[in-house]
Amino acid sequence: KENEIILAVETSCDETAAAVVQGGAHILSNVVASQIESHKRFGGVVPELASRHHTENITWTIEEAMEKAEVTFDDLDAVAVTEGPGLVGALLVGVNAAKAVAYARRLPLLPVHHISGHIQAARLERPWRYPALALVVSGGHTELVLLRDEGEYEVIGQTRDDAAGEAYDKVARTLELPYPGGPHIDKLAAEGTPNIELPIAWLEPDSYDFSFSGLKSAVINTLHNAKQRGETIRSEDLAASFQQSVITVLTEKTKRAADHYKVEQIVLAGGVAANKGLRTAMSNTFASSSVELTIPPFSLCTDNAAMIGAAAHVQWKKNITAGWDLNGVPGLAL
Ligand code: KG4
Ligand code: ZN
Repeated sequence: KENEIILAVETSCDETAAAVVQGGAHILSNVVASQIESHKRFGGVVPELASRHHTENITWTIEEAMEKAEVTFDDLDAVAVTEGPGLVGALLVGVNAAKAVAYARRLPLLPVHHISGHIQAARLERPWRYPALALVVSGGHTELVLLRDEGEYEVIGQTRDDAAGEAYDKVARTLELPYPGGPHIDKLAAEGTPNIELPIAWLEPDSYDFSFSGLKSAVINTLHNAKQRGETIRSEDLAASFQQSVITVLTEKTKRAADHYKVEQIVLAGGVAANKGLRTAMSNTFASSSVELTIPPFSLCTDNAAMIGAAAHVQWKKNITAGWDLNGVPGLAL
């Protein structure tokens, strides 16, 4: 069956999410209960707090997803859930909720990798063209993934230290901006000039890996040194300089990989894909090439369950199901 109806659940970090997706391409509902307000005062996600909120919210989130989709449990063909990576206590809430529905209804349980979810969000926009390349940039991940064919994920580059979003959040904290800092830096950067010299970590010439901790430290040192000398630095300019450094390396390495592997499609995914500067730079870079650039809308870039339903469609077609012993795997490999 190609037009299967899947209930998908995602609880890997700080969003409790449930969605109903048909045929891996049509969103019937997509409900996200954000915990940001609760974690804000701690300046980041508190794992135990996240688990507790998931436990409180998971049932009504699923119920609302079912109601909005106007389907009953009898209409479902399968239940999908994020198996990992993520916070273990958070993952377990989603895994057990999905298991309960699947077990009670005797439905297949489809295990989904969180990053494959971010990548497959593109499927909700348009069909894939292979070979394809995905740049996944979020609070926990920075990965260049090559897809030679459907559902075949090959990580060709990744961060060696901080994730791109993590660097944004840490720089934002230094500038005393609220959590999560990415959108605030993005806004500041648009008002500034990138006139402060900051490093770009190119690493080895043939490497598609990334590194952002040096850049983050350079921002912190620049601010610190200026303060000691009694100079003032415009935070707009610092944000613009930081953002330019990040965007330059992300865009350039994506371009290099796209040329090398002769890809037909490029997908930008993950929370940082919401970044205006990055979206513009990617669009400009690939405007004159035949490569198709897909950037899902903001709501599908940040954590949600529709993307898990889209990725689950691939599992469904390949008949990859989990047993009742399915566990949350914090360090799951793609
Ligand atoms: O994908 P996501 O919602 O959660 C993870 O799986 O990590 O990504 C969240 C990350 C945060 O680090 C946040 O600061 C960053 O995405 N982010 C942005 C922007 N919007 C969200 N970073 C830069 N510019 C933005 N506009
Ligand atoms: Zn994510």
